[in-house]
Amino acid sequence: MRILVLGSGAREHAIVTSLLSEQERHEITVAPGNAGIAAVATVVALDPTRKDVVTQYAIDNDIELVVIGPEAPLVAGVADALRQRGIPVFGPGKAAAALEGSKTFAKRIMDDAGVPTGRATRAGTLEDAVAAIDEYGSPYVVKADGLAAGKGVLVTDERDAAIAHANFWLGHGAVLVEEFLAGQEVSLFLLSDGHSVLPLSPAQDYKRALDGDEGPNTGGMGAYSPLPWLPDGFVDEVISTIAVPVIRQLASEQTPFIGLLYCGLIVTDAGIRVIEFNARFGDPETQVVLPRLVTPLSGLLLAAASGELTGLPWPEFSTDVAVTVVLASEGYPDDPITGRPITGLADVTDVTIAHAATALVHGEFVATGGRVLSVVATAPDFAGARAKAYAALETIHLEGGHYRTDIALRVAQ
Ligand code: AMP
Ligand code: GLY
Repeated sequence: MRILVLGSGAREHAIVTSLLSEQERHEITVAPGNAGIAAVATVVALDPTRKDVVTQYAIDNDIELVVIGPEAPLVAGVADALRQRGIPVFGPGKAAAALEGSKTFAKRIMDDAGVPTGRATRAGTLEDAVAAIDEYGSPYVVKADGLAAGKGVLVTDERDAAIAHANFWLGHGAVLVEEFLAGQEVSLFLLSDGHSVLPLSPAQDYKRALDGDEGPNTGGMGAYSPLPWLPDGFVDEVISTIAVPVIRQLASEQTPFIGLLYCGLIVTDAGIRVIEFNARFGDPETQVVLPRLVTPLSGLLLAAASGELTGLPWPEFSTDVAVTVVLASEGYPDDPITGRPITGLADVTDVTIAHAATALVHGEFVATGGRVLSVVATAPDFAGARAKAYAALETIHLEGGHYRTDIALRVAQ
């Protein structure tokens, strides 16, 4: 197939790696990609959020499937423009992508669909925000309403910090104050064709910067899959009580969700609760879910894009487990230092590397952003996968680079 992947991160590198591992040969182009992706696929320097540019490129190059990685092109309506021209695209239109782009919209859809989530109050003024903060009490959960690149959420015991966070984000729009939900977090990805869903294997993401879940929230510092501690029937329950009701609600509003429904869940004592939806593959969870996928990814994405998921069997996964650890630049997430060389990549064995923010300068990889790359290891058990991933990280050098040392530790003992 001639496939165009939009995006430039480790998630897109993992998608490309999975597509290239299939028996069927694909011609893959990535826009704009990164230095790691450029080593395995064609990259083109076009802006993935420009719907006119992307659509023209897809037409001129006879693209048979477009896979949209990040949220920005979705929210910009790139999927709508492609679909209007009859090009199969894996990624929801602008209206359905608001499930991720607007937390208020997501809450409204969940209410209408009867989906279990925490209580939340939308506040447009500081006075309302403070009232809600005091109503819900500590620990406080305050979120920016719109897209905030992972920086919009604060969970804190300190009332002053909660109020300051609300005050800052009120400068950009409304904020949401939420009930705190306690429990293990699960990321479950569902492929949707607008009517039916098929689940991928659950994963867990590590959102905080430092070991022991300390430090600030990040885009994600590591992940593992599957989750051996999940109760039987978990995936079926999420499908019947969360994913299908949401997909049906969106379809009934003439805004079908075609793409990847990312359910961010917390398993509380009172049951499964939604913390957030995303309208795309998660990063870094994709780096551990796709290497375990046995069913060819391209067929699943095309079936979803073409409205043909109904009746297909659930995708198959290897019994091997996967662990990914993110190498971040010094200063990430607040103020990453970029431009530093990354060495040792040619010497790692037994892992795959998904590049996130790298460029080639005079034949040498340099870090160009906060999350630089994901090291991905698979093995029959978590201890084995961790050992491989961390051995590789000792071989790779980036001045000031940091990573968590406790990814998948809780399942490795
Ligand atoms: P989000 O960007 O909405 O996924 O939030 C980022 C992180 O904040 C989540 O992964 C959770 O760890 C935490 N979080 C968000 N909402 C809540 C909540 N209502 N209760 C507890 N933790 C939360
Ligand atoms: N790993 C969290 C996200 O992709 O939003």
